[in-house]
Amino acid sequence: MATPIRKFTKLSFVIILLISFLTFLKGDELGELKRSSMTLYFQDYFGGPNATMKPVTFSADAWSFKQFGTIFCTDDPITVTMDQGSAEIGRAQGIYVTSALDGSNSHVLISLVFTNKEFGGSTLEVQGASKQFERVREVAVVGGTGKFRLARGYATFETVHLDLSLSYSIIEGNFTVWHYKNDRNTL
Ligand SMILES: *[C@@H]1O[C@H](CO)[C@@H](O)[C@H](O)[C@H]1NC(C)=O
Ligand SMILES: *[C@@H]1O[C@H](CO)[C@@H](O)[C@H](O)[C@H]1NC(C)=O
Repeated sequence: MATPIRKFTKLSFVIILLISFLTFLKGDELGELKRSSMTLYFQDYFGGPNATMKPVTFSADAWSFKQFGTIFCTDDPITVTMDQGSAEIGRAQGIYVTSALDGSNSHVLISLVFTNKEFGGSTLEVQGASKQFERVREVAVVGGTGKFRLARGYATFETVHLDLSLSYSIIEGNFTVWHYKNDRNTL
């Protein structure tokens, strides 16, 4: 006959099994981990009456992308093709800070706020040091919401068009993210 101690051990074992099973079920709600890639374009107006990027704090030396400490606020339209007039699928909202003393790095803190049918209500969070004067800049994707819950990955940015007279540039962003796919996620 089992002693009370043995009974207790058996009971604990059953409880641990049950907890593991429930944890497994809960984990399963997230669905399977999936890798997605997409190319997006940021329509960046860095001057003029309809600027989508503006310096918000700067030193007495006036603002400059190279001036350490200059903070820029941004709300760039995001499109799926390079064309200036192509349909907007979201906005790149956040801040950039010239974070290296010699001006070479910019610290990027932006949310991709999607508004299209497919990803509307979801966001991707981009954060990290960007070697702002290099042709291709790589920055981490550190999270997301909605369809991009628990997203992790990276993005490369390349300025594919620059018109100084119009203070207009187009930045191509290639995103590679791992995120959970669930039933409501059609990505
Ligand atoms: C700024 O936006 C307004 C309203 O959409 C538009 O009429 C105007 O042409 C724009 N100006 C420039 C310089 O793009
Ligand atoms: C980004 O993706 C586009 C389209 O696939 C490709 O042409 C381009 O070379 C990529 N850029 C980088 C820096 O990998």
